[in-house]
Amino acid sequence: MIITIDGPAGSGKSTAARKLAATLGIAYLDTGAMYRAIALAALQQGILLKDNDSLISVAKTCDIELDCGPTHTRVTLNSADVSEAIRSMAVNQATSFVARIHEIRQILVEKQRAIGRHLDSLVSEGRDQGSVVFPDADLKFFLDAAIEKRAMRRYQELVADGEEASYELIMENLQQRDGNDQHQWAPLLEPESAIRIDTTQMTIHEVVERLLEEVRKKGLGRS
Ligand code: DC
Repeated sequence: MIITIDGPAGSGKSTAARKLAATLGIAYLDTGAMYRAIALAALQQGILLKDNDSLISVAKTCDIELDCGPTHTRVTLNSADVSEAIRSMAVNQATSFVARIHEIRQILVEKQRAIGRHLDSLVSEGRDQGSVVFPDADLKFFLDAAIEKRAMRRYQELVADGEEASYELIMENLQQRDGNDQHQWAPLLEPESAIRIDTTQMTIHEVVERLLEEVRKKGLGRS
């Protein structure tokens, strides 16, 4: 069973995807973590973010391992645990340079499909999961929320992780990313067959319940 959850940053999709996977007892694939790990590798190697060729070569050579347990995601980069390091604001910003490069997307799309084949059942979360990576998924969701709410969620996440965060900077960053999404290379695509959920006024518990309702309607899962 493959369930995809796509949507913009702060739409609540990561937490919802993780909780849905845990409830169903299946793996959770955080595809953003893969783009983030490449961005971190590039930063560590002092590569200029506009140097596409070098970024592609980092993507081809770095070794990223994802532990897709339903209750946690551990990410290792060249054998070092980078689960926390990939969540910093610096990596946030660098990742959009990585994510817009077609060749890097192709490499990661292949990796994600291989993980899907290997695990068989998973909740896969990102921007292009229902549209590009798993077009034949059993169930597809698209989560969205008002930008003010998304910025506040991102701010609270960073503060909870002990990062210094500015709501204004996060809002600027989100506006930039939403603007980028309108370009042709944008990874954020809403699959036609996806169930759209606006999470602005919803708690995470309500979002997960709504997802589970659709899972049950389809006769998927045990709960
Ligand atoms: O979901 P996230 O914030 O961890 O994603 C990090 C970055 O990676 C963000 O800039 C969007 C990008 N991304 C992508 O382009 N395609 C995906 N499947 C997942 C994330």
